[in-house]
Amino acid sequence: MCGIVGYVGSRKTIDFLLEGLRRLEYRGYDSAGVATITADRRIVLAKAVGRIENLAAIVAETDLQGAIGIGHTRWATHGAATPGNAHPHVGGNQSLALVHNGVIENYQSLRAALEAEGYRFRSETDSEVIAHLVSSMVDKQLVQLQGRKAAPRDILIPAVRAALGQLRGTYGLVIAFRDYPDCLVAARLGSPLVIGIGTGEHFVGSDASTLVGYTEKIVYMADHQVAFITADRLHLTHREQGQIQPSIETLDAASDRVTTDGYRHFMLKEIFEQPDTIQNAMRGRLSDDDATAVFGGLNLIPQQLRNINRIILTACGTSWHAGLYGEYLIEELARIPVEVEYASELRYRNPPVDPHTLVFALSQSGETADTLGALREMKRKGHSTLAICNVVGSSIAQEADGGVFLHAGPEIGVASTKAFTSQCVVLALLGLYFGRLRHVSYEAGRRIIDAMRALPDHVRATLALNDQVKAIAEKYCEFQNFLYLGRHYNFPTALEGALKLKEISYIHAEGYPAAEMKHGPIALVDARTPSVFLVPRGWVYEKVLSNLQEVKARGGPVIAICAEDDAEVTRLADDVLHVPMIDDCFQPIVSVIPLQLLAYHIAVLRGCDVDKPRNLAKSVTVE
Ligand code: G6P
Repeated sequence: MCGIVGYVGSRKTIDFLLEGLRRLEYRGYDSAGVATITADRRIVLAKAVGRIENLAAIVAETDLQGAIGIGHTRWATHGAATPGNAHPHVGGNQSLALVHNGVIENYQSLRAALEAEGYRFRSETDSEVIAHLVSSMVDKQLVQLQGRKAAPRDILIPAVRAALGQLRGTYGLVIAFRDYPDCLVAARLGSPLVIGIGTGEHFVGSDASTLVGYTEKIVYMADHQVAFITADRLHLTHREQGQIQPSIETLDAASDRVTTDGYRHFMLKEIFEQPDTIQNAMRGRLSDDDATAVFGGLNLIPQQLRNINRIILTACGTSWHAGLYGEYLIEELARIPVEVEYASELRYRNPPVDPHTLVFALSQSGETADTLGALREMKRKGHSTLAICNVVGSSIAQEADGGVFLHAGPEIGVASTKAFTSQCVVLALLGLYFGRLRHVSYEAGRRIIDAMRALPDHVRATLALNDQVKAIAEKYCEFQNFLYLGRHYNFPTALEGALKLKEISYIHAEGYPAAEMKHGPIALVDARTPSVFLVPRGWVYEKVLSNLQEVKARGGPVIAICAEDDAEVTRLADDVLHVPMIDDCFQPIVSVIPLQLLAYHIAVLRGCDVDKPRNLAKSVTVE
């Protein structure tokens, strides 16, 4: 979703801003803009709808000089994607430029009040109110000084704080001031911002990836902090604590510049990375001696974890599907009741929750607004909260009491692939861990460990199906409706397969528990509605086979994911993809691979923008 960059220093500001915005493209956006402050105290703006390259073309014809600048990618919420609604927004009498991520809930009343004071609005956005509000507070601050001299910091920080005090909602924002051309002010509440420290320069980004290659020293801003940033100094304040010492961290080298490594798209690269990312999710976490999983960051002692009698997994999108898999698996391995909740529902539903409940928030990005909201609500109620995240330093990772990182490396394709399988692996590790705290024997624990260790090889073998999947994609890419059907552990896989297809190819696809299909979706079955069946060997095999026959009997084409030696399914289905057969509970980690590839190839064949599908965002930072 929306992204922010900012710069103060002596390098060519606009070059950093454009490069930073390009690195934020993966988050999803529909317009972009930049502003610089010139030495002769002017704000120069450039904005464009669509890709950063459109903005770069406008920038090439604009004189964007200046040692101070801010930039933004916008994913429309309040008002359509137009140049007028694109950030930066100017406030007051062209006195400042502002970029904002987040949502201001009380913007309408603030706008009415500011309009009554004579401020003229140029956009339909909620963000523009902050620009005018800060501008009006700066003016008030100057009036209070009655002509006395004051350092810019002593004018701007109180003014920004006074404006922030009136906002209800969330923000990550950066402001550049026409009359103070040596500084930026940044503030955060609920929307991430990082500050990069260079030599004689500072960088700001909503995402640490913008800073890679520029500096390794970064400060993750926390909620209620305001930063006053010049080329040489970073002055950080907190609403309650006053001035605070920035805690400088080292930017993880693993988040190195991300490229497609010769693959046509990030999504394809990320699909093919899965043998390694699955390995990374397990690395150092399997103990042969104790036949269990070990975690460094749960921050709860085994005695506390043994007393847990219920687990809630909360998430959105693909992470929710991983949670559903986790429910089946943890209940089976550890015999602990598990509930999987859409974070957007959990945060407002107020369910009765037993005190011995452990809450896991699953999020690749660690920034999904609803998942963060649900986590906070559960914390407020006094529950222990843990995060399963990929992005280190993300809001969810920081706010949870502890957690497990995926270590999958940056996921750029909007449609999540490697994060899904890594989440499944981490949930399996948790199932093993909780199981071993209870009834799972040493021997059974060792068997689970052996099965998990074999996963990367099975995934590698499955990736070899790529050409076959492509051929199937060619056959079906013109179809408009698909069903994805599976049972038990492979019901979440079916949901995930359907989601992948609709996300990137814009084809209508529904995932269903295979038997439930008889209660509605079967009405859709015809020669133009293919069903993708997950029918591996296992204890629901016969049941799924019957469901497959029901579809065939009605003339529906069937694409089946099944075992190599499965002559029956091979005979019945129109197209088959033979995958390695492994333990029932790990089968989805392998069976999802051909579904990811199928969605990918169909989207490519339909000419879709695979890595940046329309309307979607990688990190959904609004409710
Ligand atoms: C967006 C992305 C999905 C992702 C979901 C949850 O919708 O497009 O790919 O699954 O958000 O994101 P999270 O970062 O919390 O896992």
